[in-house]
Amino acid sequence: MEFDEKVLSDVHVTSENESVEGNDYTVSRFWFRVLPCGSCVSTCRGSEERDGVTDSDGDMVLSRRKNREDGEELNVLTIAHSLSTGLKDVGKQLWHGSLILADYLIHLQDKLQDKTVVELGAGTGLAGITASFFAKNVLCTDVGGDVLRLTEHNLDQNWNCLNLMKKKNYRVCQLDWMSENLVTDCGKYTITEEDVSLLNTAQIFIAGDVVYDNELTLAFLNTVYRLLSNPPSKSLYISMEKRLIFTLEDKDVVAPAYDYFCECLEALIETTSETGAQFHHQEIPVTFPQCFTYNRTKELIMCKIYTTFPDS
Ligand SMILES: C[S@@+](CC[C@H](N)C(=O)[O-])C[C@H]1O[C@@H](n2cnc3c(N)ncnc32)[C@H](O)[C@@H]1O
Repeated sequence: MEFDEKVLSDVHVTSENESVEGNDYTVSRFWFRVLPCGSCVSTCRGSEERDGVTDSDGDMVLSRRKNREDGEELNVLTIAHSLSTGLKDVGKQLWHGSLILADYLIHLQDKLQDKTVVELGAGTGLAGITASFFAKNVLCTDVGGDVLRLTEHNLDQNWNCLNLMKKKNYRVCQLDWMSENLVTDCGKYTITEEDVSLLNTAQIFIAGDVVYDNELTLAFLNTVYRLLSNPPSKSLYISMEKRLIFTLEDKDVVAPAYDYFCECLEALIETTSETGAQFHHQEIPVTFPQCFTYNRTKELIMCKIYTTFPDS
């Protein structure tokens, strides 16, 4: 695929989430439900009217909660995003990976309490925002000022949507998987000492839909190796969309990006780091409740990569 060829997330083709086109980005509302016990059920949009008004930047200002006709309360995230981009800007679109990951984070909410969560390849930030509802701190990372500005904008709009009284608990910074150095210059998004300390102490990492290009997949897993190698044990929850294509060479439907990820993951699991970390992998059955509205196809996959240490 050419670098400047347009790619399109089908989140907005198949979902019922409402969208309004703004100046730079489209703004969409993603309704979701969180039950106190952590078990959730799928939402459907109900009959609410579009009630958006715009602020001075042209962004929609929307009500945060709605009661459905059946009296159930729904929450809403308002996410600014592009509808199509070139490959280098895919982070400006919202992908199914972040919706299923967000569902899983709601399911995991008790495990996030008092924890730092680091998101890799955050894009529009929907999963990081969801983590920020439950975690102590969230560090959302991606690459490039434009994407990071969008991530931060979306966090700013939504981080306190479940609790208006809470203290700001997120940071957005650049963490480039392709770079040898952890710290790379990106103006206000350059990693600070405080961020390094969060990266070192975080035990939960998340990544949504980052498996689509072999070179990036390898760089991503190398980054995972670096970030998870030091004790204590750490976990990465990663969602993927198994993208199927028909090739003449295979005369069959194949998922080359997913297959390459599995190949690299196998190599990671056979490696023991100098610090003694052993890597493990576990597929997470997609049986957890659906809280956001989207088409949960069987191609959407969740898995966990985690480390153990000989003495732990
Ligand atoms: C398909 S998008 C997924 C975005 C978001 N997680 C979601 O599911 O909607 C892939 C993400 O990986 C990020 N990415 C690509 N190359 C990267 C790199 N070298 N370092 C860090 N992030 C990168 C992109 O900017 C983009 O946000």
